[in-house]
Amino acid sequence: MWVHSGKNSAPTLSTRYQESLLCPLFTAALILVALQVSSAQAQSVDLTSPDQHFTVQQPRVLDAKEALAVYQNVRARMFSGYSGARNPAIADLDQWPVYNSAPYRSATHGQRYVNNYANPMARAYGRYEASGPMPVGAVLAKDSFTVTGKGDVFAGALFLMEKMPAGFNQASHDWAYTMIMPDGSLFGTTKGDGSKRVAFCITCHEAVAEKHHQMFFVPEEYRVEVLNSQ
Ligand code: HEC
Repeated sequence: MWVHSGKNSAPTLSTRYQESLLCPLFTAALILVALQVSSAQAQSVDLTSPDQHFTVQQPRVLDAKEALAVYQNVRARMFSGYSGARNPAIADLDQWPVYNSAPYRSATHGQRYVNNYANPMARAYGRYEASGPMPVGAVLAKDSFTVTGKGDVFAGALFLMEKMPAGFNQASHDWAYTMIMPDGSLFGTTKGDGSKRVAFCITCHEAVAEKHHQMFFVPEEYRVEVLNSQ
């Protein structure tokens, strides 16, 4: 069982959501938008870069509480979409601990709000820069969503890093990078279908290869302590 503690931490996503006090107006807006989560394919799509495969002209800027509230409403549907990929690496994604205290905007993943999960093999991820190299079978997942100026919520892609056996791919330090679209379709995976489309993941993550084994970690202000991440 995963035990969380520390001032930024919360035991589980669901209890954290229960604790978040929502502004009544925003709650009303959420009821309207929660039903509108839909795949990025509904918008004009340019799949050539992570910043462009789904671009919202004037995305709404949410504070941490609002971002959590939106995520509470859409998470189950987002995960259900990703599960369409039938990727065994994320079969139990909804059981994994989350390593950020609230969804935050990731400039490097299309300015979407993102969350970071790690499977039990990757529990050392909670030690962040001190985590060391990940064992084979470690999987890191980053989901994403966007909220438009009008308040519509769109599920974004799921970004995955899976540590493969030594010799899998030198350029990626044996990580397989995978991007799954909101409807579960595969955008690409290292050494598999659409491998070239996810080469840009490696190009960027390579910047921290020497220092942190291609892991960037969660921005400091959003980190949570996970006691059994040692
Ligand atoms: C331009 C740089 C850049 C690109 C391109 C990029 N990432 Fe990242 N990635 C980051 C940064 C920075 C973080 C940590 C901070 C954040 O979430 O924004 C991160 C975090 C992650 C994480 C969480 C594990 C970690 O490193 O802490 C995963 C999983 C991930 N990226 C997968 C991908 C995949 C898959 C792609 C390609 C489809 C990709 N990334 C493309 C910069 C990049």
